Amino acid sequence: MCGIIGYIGNKEALPILLSGLERMEYRGYDSAGLAIVNNRSLLVEKSVGRIEVLKQKTKNKNLYGNLGIGHTRWATHGDPSTVNAHPQFDASKKIALVHNGIIENYQSIRKMLEKEGIQFESETDTEALAKLIGFLYRGDLESAVEDALSQVDGAYGIAVIHSDEPDKIVAARMGSPLIVAKGTDENFVASDPAATLEFTRDVAFLNDGEMVVVKHNEIKFKKQRKMITKEFETLAYSLEEIERGGFDHFMLKEIYMQPQTLEETMRGRLMLKEGDVKLGGLRDVMEQLVKMKRAIFLGCGTAWHAGLLGEHLFEDLAGIPAETEYASEFRYRNPVIEDGTVAIAISQSGETADTLAAIREAKRKNALTIGIVNVVGSTIARETHAGTYLRTGPEIGVASTKAFTSQVLVCAMLAVKLGRLRGKLSHEEAFDLVNAMNELPSKVSEILELRDQIKAIAQRFSQARNFLYLGRGYQFPVALEGALKLKEISYILAEGYPAAEMKHGPIALIDENMPVVFLAPRDPLRSKLISNIEQVRARKGIVISVCNPNDQDIRSISNEVIEIPQTLPQLAPILSVIPLQLLAYEIAVQLGLNVDRPRNLAKSVTVE
Ligand code: G6P
Repeated sequence: MCGIIGYIGNKEALPILLSGLERMEYRGYDSAGLAIVNNRSLLVEKSVGRIEVLKQKTKNKNLYGNLGIGHTRWATHGDPSTVNAHPQFDASKKIALVHNGIIENYQSIRKMLEKEGIQFESETDTEALAKLIGFLYRGDLESAVEDALSQVDGAYGIAVIHSDEPDKIVAARMGSPLIVAKGTDENFVASDPAATLEFTRDVAFLNDGEMVVVKHNEIKFKKQRKMITKEFETLAYSLEEIERGGFDHFMLKEIYMQPQTLEETMRGRLMLKEGDVKLGGLRDVMEQLVKMKRAIFLGCGTAWHAGLLGEHLFEDLAGIPAETEYASEFRYRNPVIEDGTVAIAISQSGETADTLAAIREAKRKNALTIGIVNVVGSTIARETHAGTYLRTGPEIGVASTKAFTSQVLVCAMLAVKLGRLRGKLSHEEAFDLVNAMNELPSKVSEILELRDQIKAIAQRFSQARNFLYLGRGYQFPVALEGALKLKEISYILAEGYPAAEMKHGPIALIDENMPVVFLAPRDPLRSKLISNIEQVRARKGIVISVCNPNDQDIRSISNEVIEIPQTLPQLAPILSVIPLQLLAYEIAVQLGLNVDRPRNLAKSVTVE
């Protein structure tokens, strides 16, 4: 989720690198850095925070040179700090490398190099690759990069320079986007055409496994060490369109990113054969976690809904008594926290004031505190004793989508881990769960294909004044989240309710103008839910059901059905929420509202 830029030509590299980085800030902005080759040495500047900080730092410094690389970081390994910012360097400090993605076997590479006497400075996976290239360097950067990449597992988009080879940038891609942009007597590499669009529109997109050696007047593409030819294309779209990746809104882009973001959340953490989960950030506190007597999930908004699911998952899979609290209530309630209580803060931003205060309160009362956070190095990430990052990249749409599904997934992974260690889950059960997790990204992709159908439903009901969302068990928090999405961006009053509670109040609202969304995947509570659907039908309510394919029982009593693939009930919320995100989105678009910036709402609420 970071941004890469590289320049070689006859102009000063610095302003070009800075402007490219600014253009990519929407991809990540917790730290940044650049390296420029000047007279066979590397000039380097790095900073924590936005590109503006880096810009100020480079002022009045003699960072001259016509070759350079830059990076804006969205941290995945190690806090945002200058030492962890890119570029990372080899031991001789002559090679500089910028990297997007995750090197999965970085620990074994690091150990091997440390045995060779090479010292490491940062906590990043990237440094292992930079040091490995340096270790293998025999006077030719191109082959050193090829050799190093043959030893690397994981995902990368990289750009590398060597101060003794000031005529080239070597760049490669495996899983993280990379482009080459062609100018006149100058060329660029970037992770994103947004970075280079102001200089040239002629672009070639690298595919996985491809490498490129870029000189100021020559571009050489390679694959498996052999030369290949690639076509350049002239981009016709605007900068803003590129930032949104061709989607009309960031929210839509983020909904569509979920197959990838869920993949990132799981990357290197699932042990499919063993039926287990690895969560590196919790290793030091795992013993305490296993012995916990009670878990309290804390969060606000969407994160609170993820907490409700965490509660179910902990009870169901790990046998841990669990509860979920609104952070804003918990902080003022003088909560009783006994020994063995673990407070788990869930937060996309890691900066929500109420969640932070709640975690401080729990800490003050001696609870072990854990963060399930997206933004690396954010305050909640720093102030909790340990945690797990979501790795979903920056979320820009105010209504949270991709962060939610990853929050739930992390809760499920942690519940499986604890369930195994506490002897609550058999190997077989855990095996089924982790393998079902692994299948989620492709199932989410299938659901995303339903957009046209969901759009048609949105067209039919966008004029409704109220909506009701109903679900039971694991689907109740999804009902709350679906209703919240609709409220947030369409300003339609929507209520989420446990389906059986409907008869104690909301049933009074039901008439022929009231759409009721039922969350009805096949699970142990489905037959009970069917009775609830009948109750709505009897009052002429409009039934929109989210169910599994070929469910004739549900189909025959629904006005509309949205069919989603089946998975285990514990993981079904990650699938069933997707059509609700799309439904809210399409209704808001129908109503002509500003989806990414809904009125009165803020992305990160740092006030009480
Ligand atoms: C705001 C956002 C919500 C988010 C909530 C908690 O209300 O609009 O989308 O769920 O804050 O934010 P956090 O960053 O702590 O997850």
